[in-house]
Amino acid sequence: MILTVTLNAALDLTYRLPDLRPHASNRVRSVTRQAGGKGVNVARVLAALGHAATVTGLVGGPTGQAVRAELAEAALPDELVEVAGETRRTIAVADDRDTTMLLEPGPDVSPSEWQRFLAHYEHLLPGASVVVLSGSLPPGLPVDAYRRLVERARAHGVPAVLDADGPALLRALPARPAVVKPNAHELADATGCPDPAEGAQRLLEAGAEAVVASLGPDGLLALTPEGRWRARPPGAVSGNPTGAGDSVVAALALGLAGGLPWPERLRRAVALSAATVLAPQAGRFDADAHERLLALVRTEALDRAEAPARTEAPARTEDLDPTHPQGEACP
Ligand SMILES: Nc1ncnc2c1ncn2[C@@H]1O[C@H](COP(=O)(O)OP(=O)(O)OP(=O)(O)O)[C@@H](O)[C@H]1O
Ligand SMILES: [Mg+2]
Repeated sequence: MILTVTLNAALDLTYRLPDLRPHASNRVRSVTRQAGGKGVNVARVLAALGHAATVTGLVGGPTGQAVRAELAEAALPDELVEVAGETRRTIAVADDRDTTMLLEPGPDVSPSEWQRFLAHYEHLLPGASVVVLSGSLPPGLPVDAYRRLVERARAHGVPAVLDADGPALLRALPARPAVVKPNAHELADATGCPDPAEGAQRLLEAGAEAVVASLGPDGLLALTPEGRWRARPPGAVSGNPTGAGDSVVAALALGLAGGLPWPERLRRAVALSAATVLAPQAGRFDADAHERLLALVRTEALDRAEAPARTEAPARTEDLDPTHPQGEACP
C-alpha cells in the first residue's frame, strides 16, 4: 500500500462559465466538486492505475465531511484524522479563456491535533511500502512538520516522496527524503538558483537522496544516486496542467515501491503526467494517451559537466535561505 499524506486536504470546486467578469455578478453554468489536495490527487491516480493507495491527513467541519463522502464515493481508503477547524475549499473558475483559482488557507491546527495525527501516522506506517507527502501545510502546523514525517517513515524503513515548497521543503531535507519533486519555480524559489540543475544539486547537498525537478512541458530533470537524466514528452500538449505534478509523484512512488531502474521511473512519470494534462480534472489522466505516450518519451543520461556529481552528503540547509528573492544568484 502507498500511503499519501494531505495535511491541508480540500474540497475542490470547479465553476464553469463562458466569460468570467471581475467586479460583476457572474452566472455559473455548471459546478463540479471533488476531494482534493495533492496527496488525494496522487491516491486517485494510483487507484486508477490499479494500485492500493490510502489517504491520510487532516480534515474538519462540514467541508471535511464532504471530502470524506467524496473519497468514499471514489472508493479511496480514508484514514484521515479529524480536527476542529474547517477544511478549506479551493475554487477554480474556468471560463473559455483560462482558469482563475481562489484558495482558502485551511484550518488552524492545534498542537494536540498534530500529536494525534502523528500517532495515527505511526500506526499506518507499518502497512506502507512508500509514503507520499504532498502540498501546503495548514496554519498552526510547525514548519518542520514534513521533517518529522520523513524521520518517522525512515524509522519504519519506509521511503518518502516529498512534494512541498519553501521552508517546509528545506526543513525536511536533513531527514533524507528518498525523492523530492519541486517544479522549476519552487526549485528556484527554494535555492535561489535560476538553473534547475544547480538548484537540484543544492537540494541533494542538503540531504535529499534524489531530486526530480519537473519542468512543465520540458519534462523532468533527475539527479539520483544511480545517475542523472533528462526525460521529455514528445512535445507540449495543451490542456489542464493542474495536477500534472501529482501524477509525476504517483509514478515516482510506484517506481520506488517496485524498485524500477531510474530511467524507467522517469519514462513512466513523463507519460503519465502528459496524459494528465490531457484530462480536464486534477487527479485524472487520459488512459489512451498514456499508453501511446509511454512509447514516445525520450530519456537521456546527462554527463557530469551538465550536472555536477554529488560530493559528500552533509546537511547544508543553513546555506539555503528560503527568503532570498527569486532569481538571486545561487548561494
Ligand atoms: N504542456 C505539457 N505538455 C506535456 N507534458 C507536460 C505539460 N505540462 C506538464 N507536463 C508534464 O507534467 C510534469 C509536471 O508538470 P509541472 O512541472 O507543471 O508540475 P507542477 O507545477 O508541480 O504541477 P502541479 O503542482 O499543478 O501538479 C512535467 O514534468 C511534464 O512531464
Ligand atoms: Mg506541483
